[in-house]
Amino acid sequence: MKVDVLLGLQWGDEGKGKVVDVLTPNYDVVARFQGGPNAGHTLEFEGEKYVVRSIPSGIFQGDKINIIGNGVVLDPSLFKAEAMGLEKSGHELKNKIVISKKAHLILPTHRLLDAAYEAAKGDAKVGTTGKGIGPTYADKTSRTGLRVGDILDHFEEKYAQVKARHIQLLNDLHFKFDLTALEAEWLSAIEYLKEFQLVDSEHLVNELLNDNKSVLCEGAQGTMLDVDFGSYPFVTSSNTICAGACVGLGIAPNRIGEVFGIMKAYCTRVGSGPFPTELFDEVGATLRDLGHEYGAVTGRERRCGWIDLVALRYSIMLNGVTQLIMMKSDVLDTFETIKACVAYTVNGVETEKFPFNVEHGVDPVYVELDGWKTDMTKMQSEDEFPEEFNNYVSFLEKELQVPITIISVGPDRAQTIVRCQD
Ligand code: GDP
Ligand code: IMO
Ligand code: MG
Repeated sequence: MKVDVLLGLQWGDEGKGKVVDVLTPNYDVVARFQGGPNAGHTLEFEGEKYVVRSIPSGIFQGDKINIIGNGVVLDPSLFKAEAMGLEKSGHELKNKIVISKKAHLILPTHRLLDAAYEAAKGDAKVGTTGKGIGPTYADKTSRTGLRVGDILDHFEEKYAQVKARHIQLLNDLHFKFDLTALEAEWLSAIEYLKEFQLVDSEHLVNELLNDNKSVLCEGAQGTMLDVDFGSYPFVTSSNTICAGACVGLGIAPNRIGEVFGIMKAYCTRVGSGPFPTELFDEVGATLRDLGHEYGAVTGRERRCGWIDLVALRYSIMLNGVTQLIMMKSDVLDTFETIKACVAYTVNGVETEKFPFNVEHGVDPVYVELDGWKTDMTKMQSEDEFPEEFNNYVSFLEKELQVPITIISVGPDRAQTIVRCQD
C-alpha cells in the first residue's frame, strides 16, 4: 500500500489539522513525521474546537493508529498536558497513540536555551515559538540528544549529563533561570510517557504497509519554513517537505503516493523573516480580522498578505504535489478585488523563480481578479460556487499546474467541499 503525505505549502497554519481530520476516515494510520509542539493544528466539529500540537490530527476519527514518528521532537510536559486535556474531554488515547523510541526529547533546558538564543539575537531574532525546537534538533545533529527510548534504560545518568552541559551553556549566555518547577513537571511527565506504546515505529509503519494498511503522513509547519529550502535563517529546524516524511518515519521514497499540498487562498506568516506579499495596510488588517489570524499556540498576530504563486510554485516543485487543497476561501468573500503575485521583480529584473535572498529588493508583480462578494460558508457543493470564485480557482490551477481538489469554506469539518475531477 502507498503512503500519502499532507503538508503546508506556505509559512505554516494553512489548515493542515482540519484537512487531516477530514481525510482520516480514508486511512488506517495517521503519522506525524517532523516538528513538535511548535505546531498548533486546529480542528472544529460538532460545536467543539481542539488544538493539537504533538498528537496527530487523526485522533478524533474512530480507532485509527496515530504514530508520532522518529522525526518528531517531543516535550513530555506539553505532551502530557495535551493528552490529559483530550482524555478529559472524553477522547481515549492510550490505545491509539504509538510513539517512536527514536523521537528526540525536548528537555526543559532546551526551552530555556531557545529563549536564551533568541534574547542574544536581539532584533535579529527568529521569533520562534519558544518550545525548544531549535536546540533539540541541534542536539540531535550534534549527536548529543536524548531519545524517547532512553527513558527506559539508565535515564537518570543520561539526563544528568545533558542537563549539566545545557546549564553550562545557559550560564555562558548569562541567562537567568529557575529550573526547579519545570524539571519536576517534566520528570513526572516522563513517567506518564511510559504508559504509552513506545516502539521502533519504522518497523511498525512498514509492517502496516505490507499488510495493505493505508497511511496518511501529517506535516507540520510549512515548506517555506523548511530548514533547507525555507527563508533561512527564519525557518524552523526540521525538513518540512515531503522528503521529511521518508526520513521522519522510515518510509522508502518509492512508497509515496498522493502529495496533498495545503494552501490558504491568501498568505500568512508568524514570527520574523521575509514575506514578499505582506500587506501593511487596511487590506492586511482586514485579512487578519476576517481570518482570525492569531497563532493557535502563541496567540501572536499573524502577518497577512496576498497569495504568492512564486513561493507556491517552488513549494509544489520541492514536494511533488499531486493535489492542491485551498483553505479559508471564505475569508475573501467580501473583497471587491483579489490580487495574486505571479512573479517577483528582484533588483529590477522580473523572475518567476524563488530567489536565494528574499529579504531585500524583492517586489511582487500582481494580477488583479474580481472578487465574488458572496457568502460561501454555507455552500455544500461546487455547483453553488459563484462565477468569480470559479475564475479564481481556474486561474490558480493554470498558474500552478496542479488541480485544486478540495475547497474549505469555514473552520468546521463540515465546511469542506470536494470538487469533481473529470
Ligand atoms: P494548521 O497549523 O495548518 O493546522 O492551521 P492552524 O490550525 O494553525 O490555523 C488554521 C486556522 O484557520 C484555524 O483556526 C482553523 O480553525 C481555521 N480554518 C481552517 N480552515 C478554514 C476555512 O476554510 N475558513 C476559515 N474561516 N477558517 C479556517
Ligand atoms: P503549524 O504546524 C506557523 C515559525 C515560528 C518561527 C519559526 C521558527 O501550526 O503550521 P520554531 O519554534 O519552530 O523554532 O520557530 O517557525 N513556526 C510556525 N509558524 N505555524 C507553525 O506550525 C510553526 N511552527 C514554527 O513562528 O518564525
Ligand atoms: Mg498552526
